[in-house]
Amino acid sequence: MKKFFFLLIGIAFFSATAIAQQGSKPSIIPQPDNITMGLQECFFELTPDTKIINLLDDKNAKSVNNEINRLAQELLGKRLKTASSIKGAHNIIIKKNNSLAAEGYILEIAPENVIIQAKNAAGAFYALQTIKQLVPVQAFETPLDLERVKLPAIKINDAPHFAYRGFMLDCSRHFWNVETVKEVLDIMALHKMNRFHWHLTEDQGWRIEIKKYPLLTEKGSLREETTTGHNEGFDGIPYGGYYTQKDIKEIVKYAQERFITIIPEIEIPGHSLGALCAYPWLGCRGEEGNYKTWPMWGVSPQIACAGKESTFQFWEDVLKEVIELFPGEYIHIGGDEAPRDEWKVCPLCQKRIKENNLKNEAELQSYVTHRIEEYLNKHGRKLIGWDEILEGGVSQSATIMSWRGASGGIKAAQKGNYAIMTPNDFCYLDYFQTKNRKSEPDAIGGYVPLSKTYSLNPYDKLTPEQQKYILGVQGNLWCEYIPTPMQLQYMALPRLGAIAEIGWSNPAQEGKNANEFIERAKHLSRYYAVFGWNFAKHFYDGVE
Ligand code: ACM
Ligand code: ZN
Repeated sequence: MKKFFFLLIGIAFFSATAIAQQGSKPSIIPQPDNITMGLQECFFELTPDTKIINLLDDKNAKSVNNEINRLAQELLGKRLKTASSIKGAHNIIIKKNNSLAAEGYILEIAPENVIIQAKNAAGAFYALQTIKQLVPVQAFETPLDLERVKLPAIKINDAPHFAYRGFMLDCSRHFWNVETVKEVLDIMALHKMNRFHWHLTEDQGWRIEIKKYPLLTEKGSLREETTTGHNEGFDGIPYGGYYTQKDIKEIVKYAQERFITIIPEIEIPGHSLGALCAYPWLGCRGEEGNYKTWPMWGVSPQIACAGKESTFQFWEDVLKEVIELFPGEYIHIGGDEAPRDEWKVCPLCQKRIKENNLKNEAELQSYVTHRIEEYLNKHGRKLIGWDEILEGGVSQSATIMSWRGASGGIKAAQKGNYAIMTPNDFCYLDYFQTKNRKSEPDAIGGYVPLSKTYSLNPYDKLTPEQQKYILGVQGNLWCEYIPTPMQLQYMALPRLGAIAEIGWSNPAQEGKNANEFIERAKHLSRYYAVFGWNFAKHFYDGVE
């Protein structure tokens, strides 16, 4: 009977809003699909007496309660009590609704209750990210002064357009500690992003502990010094850092709590000097290579030898441990910018080419990719590689990450391979974001202002049939010129908000307007500030 009563109140409330004066639409990133505002003076009051009634049967339902409690702790200084069935008013009720899309939600905020409907816990988690942006920012600015926090009456029906909404962080050129990585995951969560691509191995340092090969981290994670400027000199300061397997498990768990899947990247066969320094037998030149973890920026000309079986054994051993650490379905194997010159003069690589009737070194890289993919598939995982892996031919099941513009992703989709769009001219967050370089920290180059990132249409030049192969979008942050967490955040924000919106909101949405987005980004920046996150501010004044 009570349920019926509240249902009536709910219907009355929302039909009243249809005729009554409505409040202005709230500013939310990514833009939700459908928003109906309640009466301007209608609020739900979040207080220490608010109860959580979570009726999801999902194994991750607890993560939703944990997120509510993090919010309550921040705003009210208290965790909320839970109840197992709907009684009375003043609750946050989370209900299962199987008719909704995966990760989608319906959020109804009324004076009586907050009701979240979702098909799975991820959807409910995203409803909470929307709620976070509906909390008046002043409540975060002066927390604990408030006994109650007012949430505006509203109904939102929302779901993501793309299943893959990613951010890549380079932890090799500069190393980011566990706390910094966790903060990145928090930033992603607020933007409803769900894939963290973790770039873990490089010429400049190997950053993941592999038990079978301890020298990878004992030696390969260290470089004697680092170049200064744009490869102009050297600082003479030893640099290093790596994640233990314990660190990785902690970060994987932290990400899972925020519905983020981690995609680890182990570079094969180029960008491997960290590994070659630790185990010179991996390289075409062996001990004679005199390999040293690279102190420069750019791509070293050294490469792992594709002629030796021992190299494949190494890659499989490494991937075995990587698979055990990361539960997600994808493993990224790099494959970009592999310098194939050493292969041209290596007798073992040439023997491999001959024995397998390969035409050239590009096909040798393709041979490597195929073998690695077979290993991953045998162990229940799928391969992602940068768009170079298309060059010598690629299997139908490999997923392509398009970075040299969109052409690799377009080619992949045309031939029926799945692709993730991360074209450098829209999605490289290490590029300058303003023309006024004097007022900026140094960057690698390029020019990708917020409005440019926001203008990306991942479906550009694709037929409706080909569009089905675009899994989503990703922002990439390479860290050669990013030495501190403050600068990391500065480069990522607010452009990551644009990537998030392209990933979440329909790319073909009517009325997509960069100026309107910039206004919302400006609003969200106040939240970045109270959460202690650094961000670029020029776009406030339309400065690009
Ligand atoms: C890349 O930027 N080398 C993928
Ligand atoms: Zn070789």
